[in-house]
Amino acid sequence: MDAAEKAARKAHQDELKQAAAEKALDWLTPGKVVGVGSGSTVAFFIEALGRRRKDFPQAVSSSLRSTELLREAGIEVLDLNQIDEIDCYVDGADEVDPGFALIKGGGGALTREKIVAQASRHFVCIVDESKYVPVLGQFPLPVEVVPMAMHLVGRQLEKLGGTVRERAGYITDNGNPILDVSGLQISDPVALEETINQWPGVVTNGIFARRRPETVLIAGMHGVQALG
Ligand code: 5RP
Repeated sequence: MDAAEKAARKAHQDELKQAAAEKALDWLTPGKVVGVGSGSTVAFFIEALGRRRKDFPQAVSSSLRSTELLREAGIEVLDLNQIDEIDCYVDGADEVDPGFALIKGGGGALTREKIVAQASRHFVCIVDESKYVPVLGQFPLPVEVVPMAMHLVGRQLEKLGGTVRERAGYITDNGNPILDVSGLQISDPVALEETINQWPGVVTNGIFARRRPETVLIAGMHGVQALG
């Protein structure tokens, strides 16, 4: 693919991301606190939210980058410890399977995203159609680890049959490295999420199967389809 084709493909994907992001506003209740994920699809959502900031003046953020974008959009960012429940959480994903289990963390914000998702009454996932897959695992699974456990956890991940790479030059908002695991066929996402999360040194992994979205908005050529 040459540079012009790449740019055209990205522009098309961005249009789809924006369409899914704008549709998510229909799931929000004016006046309630909004949970906000991270990533390029969410950046479109924050833009849309900013245009409706009178209806949605307050949010809880899942990353330093989203916090910055929310503030620029004129939305107050609350600490999760200040509130009991978030009404609706909107976030993107790297992969979505037909049962709505997700791989997340391509942007590195998986731990805070999982926390905010868990604190929310309703989770709306916004994706373009390229993210919808029959089985999770084509996208490398991100695992956030405590630095001293990197090699220990890496060896355990290799025993699952994956190829493990430390994400080069990257440290999460929590100060930890990420291991990206490719080559996994994730046929039982709940079991794998629980198994990896039990290992000492793992902060969290990017499978979102225990707390999965209630609604998935998939943008494609023919508009945005709402599943769930
Ligand atoms: C960040 C995430 C993102 O939601 C995921 O990587 C999708 O990102 P994008 O919308 O840029 O494709 O999990 O940790």
